[in-house]
Amino acid sequence: MNVFLETYGCQMNEYDSELIQAILSPHGYKTTTVLEEASVVLINTCAIRENAHRKIYGRLDDLRPVKKGKMADGAPFVVAVLGCMAQNLKEALFDHPVVNLVVGPDNYKSLPRLIQQAIQTTGRPVMEAYLSEYETYSDIAPHRVAGVNAWIAVMRGCDNFCTFCVVPYTRGRERCRSPENILNEARRLAEVGYRQVTLLGQNVNSYRYEGASFADLISAVAGVPGIQRVRFTSPHPKDFPEPLLAAIAAHPHICKHIHLPAQSGSDRILSVMNRTYTRREYLALVAQIRRAIPQVSITTDMIIGFPTETETDFQDTYDLMQQAEFDNAFIFKYSEREGTIAQRQYPDDVAADIKTDRIVRLFDLQHSISRQKNQRRVGETLEVLIEGMAEKRPNAQVGKSDGNRTVLFPNTLLSPGTFVPIRITDATQNTLYGEAV
Ligand code: SAH
Ligand code: SF4
Ligand code: F3S
Repeated sequence: MNVFLETYGCQMNEYDSELIQAILSPHGYKTTTVLEEASVVLINTCAIRENAHRKIYGRLDDLRPVKKGKMADGAPFVVAVLGCMAQNLKEALFDHPVVNLVVGPDNYKSLPRLIQQAIQTTGRPVMEAYLSEYETYSDIAPHRVAGVNAWIAVMRGCDNFCTFCVVPYTRGRERCRSPENILNEARRLAEVGYRQVTLLGQNVNSYRYEGASFADLISAVAGVPGIQRVRFTSPHPKDFPEPLLAAIAAHPHICKHIHLPAQSGSDRILSVMNRTYTRREYLALVAQIRRAIPQVSITTDMIIGFPTETETDFQDTYDLMQQAEFDNAFIFKYSEREGTIAQRQYPDDVAADIKTDRIVRLFDLQHSISRQKNQRRVGETLEVLIEGMAEKRPNAQVGKSDGNRTVLFPNTLLSPGTFVPIRITDATQNTLYGEAV
């Protein structure tokens, strides 16, 4: 049977889709990229913001005529919603006429059975969406697409309950894989030619397994022969002890890039968000990171328009961004999520046009900081890991610097996975341009 699998959301979902393929393939399912050839459509969904939801519902609407055609032919046809929306909305998803299977992120091992059940019950809804305290899929080798980078989920779930966030409800409690199991996976990846691994977790630096900390884990992975770059995402600012910074500084294979989601620069808002740090502590951490790892790139996530955010609170965020001088920032408008603490306690009271005005001001600021920081790199030579041909520029190749910047350079005919020193000659806010040395 042919399966069409589509993935939305974060890297963890990308990884989960690789697990899903590995779970299905021994049962005779083959993946297809042609929707019309599929008997099973799996949509691995994200619930983080309203527009993620909207996108999925739009996609489900697209499937109506496809389903109609299949039904007319009497062919089996299953449309399954997987991932974070499945966990969050559960049976409410059956309100959409194309959906007949709903499976949560901790229940993918049941997929072969559930798909069969959905086919046999012809159209009656089938669901499995309960969170587990143990499931880490550590016994499954994901079906990876050949490439330069491989994801390894080292922990799953989140115990932080930031008041705006749906993830603790869609992904459940934190649980970690053993270092041994993770290291075996990294060794296998190195053997088949991967040069970079990215350690994943909703709170990746909260990783702890018996005596082993995240610093121990990342150092061990960086020591695997053949692995030349180790990245990690997404960390929380509360878990950056000295030994972790020391490990990142010391190990040449650990990339000098730290994503450090701030979410706000206002103490009052940080407190109602339950972020557990103050603006001062956050800025002190940024300074400490820069002292420990002088060449580091720091990026962040920000939410504007959290309930009760005033112009003064926003100014604090603006000011924090000016002070921290992030290399890049992902900025989002607050989106109220069903079931979160914020939804229960605070009305979404910042007007849409104020949210737009604030986000535009923050984008403008960050763009000018990113541009300036990139322009300072002109003249430097950076070690670039080649990813492939550039999409938007003919005869150019694209790769990433250690600090995770996109670098374009004239075609060197080197294959993906190769490292090449590139001297930077030009820069825009998002991209560095250079030539091979
Ligand atoms: N675990 C990660 C975050 C994962 S979600 C962390 O703690 O950093 C990625 C980003 O989406 C968050 O950092 C936050 O900036 C944003 N986000 C999460 N919930 C949101 C919401 N309800 N509205 C707007 N943005 C949100
Ligand atoms: Fe969401 Fe906060 Fe957990 Fe990140 S740390 S996943 S923002 S609850
Ligand atoms: Fe989205 Fe779930 Fe990831 S809500 S961001 S797919 S953990």
